[in-house]
Amino acid sequence: MSKLKIEGGNELTGSIKISGAKNSAVALIPAAILSKTRSTIFNVPKISDIEYLIKITELLNCQVSIKEDIMSIDTTNIRYNAIPEELSEMMRASYYYMGAMLARFKKAEISFPGGCKIGNRPIDLHLKGFEKLGAKITQIKNKYILEAKELIGTKIYLDFASVGATINLMLAAVGAKGKTIIENAAKEPEIVNIASFLINMGAQIKGAGTSTIIIEGTNDLDNGIVEVFPDRIEASTYLILGALIGKDLTIEGAIKEHINPVLDKLVEAGANYNITNNRITISKINKIKPVSIKTQVYPGFPTDVQQPFTTLLTQAEGNSKIIETIYESRFKHTEYLNLMGADTTAEGNVLYIKGPTKLKGENVYATDLRGGASLVIAALIAEGTTTIDNTEHILRGYEDIVIKLQKVGAKIEEI
Ligand code: UD1
Repeated sequence: MSKLKIEGGNELTGSIKISGAKNSAVALIPAAILSKTRSTIFNVPKISDIEYLIKITELLNCQVSIKEDIMSIDTTNIRYNAIPEELSEMMRASYYYMGAMLARFKKAEISFPGGCKIGNRPIDLHLKGFEKLGAKITQIKNKYILEAKELIGTKIYLDFASVGATINLMLAAVGAKGKTIIENAAKEPEIVNIASFLINMGAQIKGAGTSTIIIEGTNDLDNGIVEVFPDRIEASTYLILGALIGKDLTIEGAIKEHINPVLDKLVEAGANYNITNNRITISKINKIKPVSIKTQVYPGFPTDVQQPFTTLLTQAEGNSKIIETIYESRFKHTEYLNLMGADTTAEGNVLYIKGPTKLKGENVYATDLRGGASLVIAALIAEGTTTIDNTEHILRGYEDIVIKLQKVGAKIEEI
């Protein structure tokens, strides 16, 4: 189990380059198996989730090569294979092979996906959608066997605008006969990124990024080329750090439209930032004001940034509140923030934060990816040394976090 040792109290200055978005990359790689012979994905982040997706893709007899951040996937000799549980459970995004394999082979055998334990996280919307497209699904304990003689385009209404279900059904629908309409689709930038990859391969998709996506199925997909969008959650995490201990800390490569709600909340808390092209420079807020946040689907405030933002609010002069509407238990990180000196209380899906509180170094535990990020921020502003255990979670989502932070002056090391 890897650990991070962090000494708090150092000002951060210089620039941090944002990597490709984890949540786009983890869907683009499964999407690549729809291409007849090859695909190229630019700006792929070096994070552990990607390594497991490569293993699954190789299991399907595809050849994957990476040069710097460019991934080439050769699908010429692709062959069906069941995905073993030990790979499915390594990450949430393994479930994208359900949609992609249904489109490509009309069958898939895969287990319930892994990922952060931040609530119940069922996949019923994915499965209902596959069934509407004509798939028969058999569940044996944790394992799902999906089969279809053929997939037929249909109308699918999602009860909730789920990111995963929207992408998965878009993947399957590309391999269906005729037209599929996904209503109440998620609008996150990741969906636009995946749709543009599929369109580049030859798919006919309209409306990605709106709540109605229309897909006309085709078997003629090849040679997709795409660049992974910059990671809006990574950018937000470093902006929060800049607002706490930055001195002209520049976040390079973020797309402003993707992080507007986070920037707005930072300004409400007292931050000033300068933006030129895609470089955002931010410095420490002198007096942090308390704010209320409600997580929502895009373009609302992202649930993934709620946890890192909690740490900033422990330093606000007054009482703040976070209402989490996407997941039922996403406040596990607060146990450790409180251990470090924060004063937070969770009641159902509402978190109350009393500030300001002085944080001190402690031995803490990363319960999940973004919770882990909130602890890294806490450790960097705390007095003394913090050790964060179980940091595999953090490394799953933040490329080169240690190197990037060291470069701007943080005292952080992996032990
Ligand atoms: C994706 C992101 C995750 C982010 C989340 C919301 C990936 C790999 N992960 O997760 O970082 O926090 O979007 O922005 O891209 N739900 C159901 N049934 C379903 C599907 C979802 O009830 O079939 C519920 C979930 O339990 C959750 C909510 O819908 O409460 C949102 O889930 P969803 O948007 O699907 O998130 P993920 O795709 O899992």
